[in-house]
Amino acid sequence: MFTLAHLSDPHLAPLPAPEWSELIGKRITGYINWQRRRRFIHDRGVLDLLTADLKAQEFDHITVTGDIVNIAAMAEFPPGRVWLESLGDARAVSYVPGNHDIYVRAGARYAAREFGAYMSGDDDGGAPYLRRRGPVALIGVSSGVPTAWGMATGRIGAAQFAGLATLLDALKREQRMRVILVHHPPVSEAGWHKRLVDAEALKRVIAEHGAELVLHGHDHRAMLNWLEGPGGTHVPAVGVPSASAAPGVAKQAAAYNLYVIEGAPGAWRCEMIARGVTADGAVVEQKRMMLVA
Ligand SMILES: [Fe+2]
Ligand SMILES: [Fe+2]
Repeated sequence: MFTLAHLSDPHLAPLPAPEWSELIGKRITGYINWQRRRRFIHDRGVLDLLTADLKAQEFDHITVTGDIVNIAAMAEFPPGRVWLESLGDARAVSYVPGNHDIYVRAGARYAAREFGAYMSGDDDGGAPYLRRRGPVALIGVSSGVPTAWGMATGRIGAAQFAGLATLLDALKREQRMRVILVHHPPVSEAGWHKRLVDAEALKRVIAEHGAELVLHGHDHRAMLNWLEGPGGTHVPAVGVPSASAAPGVAKQAAAYNLYVIEGAPGAWRCEMIARGVTADGAVVEQKRMMLVA
């Protein structure tokens, strides 16, 4: 048995004071947005409650599917690293960047510096990265790119798709449980300004080369969509709410998932257990279902 934990979009609060020089362009609107609205949604106390509950469970590895920070101000990244370290060391925690981590171009540099050890493979630091853990192959795809004002889109790009296809084929031969980590959902009902622009290409790669599970964040909702896999198979794509979402304020309160993986090489079973924060500040099991059987 191997258990993966999945949380996403912590959007760490409080937002440290940005440098005045950083408050230009897209960051200004992000900063105003945070002060007016988002700071009431993303609650550090809720996040700490959720991660304390996670740590009381049995698990082997934690995945974090992006949006650790908010406007990619330099001062947000060191606390982001401290938070990642509070979950575990870089071998035990895998992260992929979200659009808020790469909110502006400088974010990519800060993320590489502070979060790099959590977003690199066993052998190298490129994307997609590959980590083998127990029966699982974690494939970290980056969809976080700087975007224009008002946009929260993601893009994976041709180079990563080529790498992803090669990895999926090789790991199929190893009969691994292939788990793709990506911030933006391949299927979403959210507005066009939030979409993964090359979602169709991602779905094509999965339809052709297969995967056992896709984990994502970004929409801040519990989501389950079935993607087409090779030979009439179906691949679950699962999203979780923001890990800091305050009950009664956010559309969906903070939650995380556990994926309990059992079975034999090439014939994996995976049960999903969702645990979330209630209005009275408890963390309870919300759902339990077989995803791969
Ligand atoms: Fe987010
Ligand atoms: Fe996002």
